[in-house]
Amino acid sequence: MRRLAILGSTGSIGTSTLDVVAAHPEALSVVALAAGRNRDLFLEQVRRWKPACVSLASKEDADWLRSQLDRAPELHWGSEGLKACALHGDVDTVMASVVGAAGLESTEAALRAGRRVCVANKESLVVGGALMRRALEAGGGELLPVDSEHAALHQLLADRPPESIAEVRLTASGGPFREWPLARIQAATREEALNHPTWKMGPKITVDSATLMNKGLEVIEASVLFGLGPDRVGVTVHAQSQVHAMVGFTDGTYQLQVCANDMKLPIQYCLLHPQKVAGPVPAYDWTQARAWTFEAPDLQRFPLLGLAYAALRAGGTAPALLNAANEVAVAGFLQGRVGFWDIQACVSEALQALPSEPARDLSQVLDADRAARRHAEGWVAARGH
Ligand SMILES: NC(=O)c1ccc[n+]([C@@H]2O[C@H](COP(=O)([O-])OP(=O)(O)OC[C@H]3O[C@@H](n4cnc5c(N)ncnc54)[C@H](OP(=O)(O)O)[C@@H]3O)[C@@H](O)[C@H]2O)c1
Repeated sequence: MRRLAILGSTGSIGTSTLDVVAAHPEALSVVALAAGRNRDLFLEQVRRWKPACVSLASKEDADWLRSQLDRAPELHWGSEGLKACALHGDVDTVMASVVGAAGLESTEAALRAGRRVCVANKESLVVGGALMRRALEAGGGELLPVDSEHAALHQLLADRPPESIAEVRLTASGGPFREWPLARIQAATREEALNHPTWKMGPKITVDSATLMNKGLEVIEASVLFGLGPDRVGVTVHAQSQVHAMVGFTDGTYQLQVCANDMKLPIQYCLLHPQKVAGPVPAYDWTQARAWTFEAPDLQRFPLLGLAYAALRAGGTAPALLNAANEVAVAGFLQGRVGFWDIQACVSEALQALPSEPARDLSQVLDADRAARRHAEGWVAARGH
């Protein structure tokens, strides 16, 4: 039986994780739940799953939760609360599915404590990749990637000798603007950016998919997870999102991983690894006619993908600067303060203005994160309406 802490339980990945737990009551149980501000859904989850330990973003919401329950579990709040859930003595597996750099410290703490950490929170690998690897080594636990492309690569690369791998390739749906001309992309609205053609996800990652920054973050994530330099992590646009990743071998052949585009599949893979059992997603239906397309990404219309490669090449704190400026710009776009094309302008400007430093410890990475946030917030305030 795996005993879970789900960090970000009210989100898209968090709720899908609970669906997977519901499908495997003999193998998975919930010990701890943590969320941000959606206290009504969280209360429902706490009533249903009866976790021993819970956390919300604010003390006020944690106090409200206590007032709603006859017998309150161990109760925490804030970033310390996320850590308390991950480190609870009965937890052996952590689903790290908080969005953004807010998930960084709890992911690191869980790795350092030797848990199995299923990382959906790609930002923590992007921002603190080397530190996460060190925490994993120190703790002696496991790091399994939930992102569908990386879960696919984890399966494709299993037991392959490193010298046989020429490159890995992540597929990208291309987002809602895949076929739009540049001028139309530049004027895209919030509603258009949130209208993803193949995946249902939280708002931040949906906007990142429209700019292709999501793929850029995933390139950095793949480089961290599989120890491959930027020239060995490619991106191919595949609008149907059925092939999730490919591995190219030194003999010129490729292997591809195919499955339905449902996050419950990679979530279950990580939670139950190495077991493969029937779960909540039906087997792939090959009786349907399929037409798949593959294209190279267009960096002129989607410059954030190029900026992510540049940050990976620069190394040190550059990916943290990239991520923080992007989080601020995307939040500004979702709030209607800046336009869609301003997201790339804000990130590009922050990367030019702020120097990349070596990322020796967590505090240096968090300093870079804060500096980029301040800078980008100033940019959004000056630019925004
Ligand atoms: N959705 C996908 O299909 C998908 C696929 C691959 C990877 N990912 C990655 O998975 C992560 C989660 O994505 P998502 O789509 O599930 O996002 P989401 O739907 O926006 O959910 C985010 C979760 O994080 C919680 N949260 C946010 N800030 C917090 C804070 N300061 N303290 C505690 N909890 C906080 C939210 O709580 P409240 O809602 O209660 O405020 C919510 O539970 C992201 O890093 C994303 O890139 C997602």
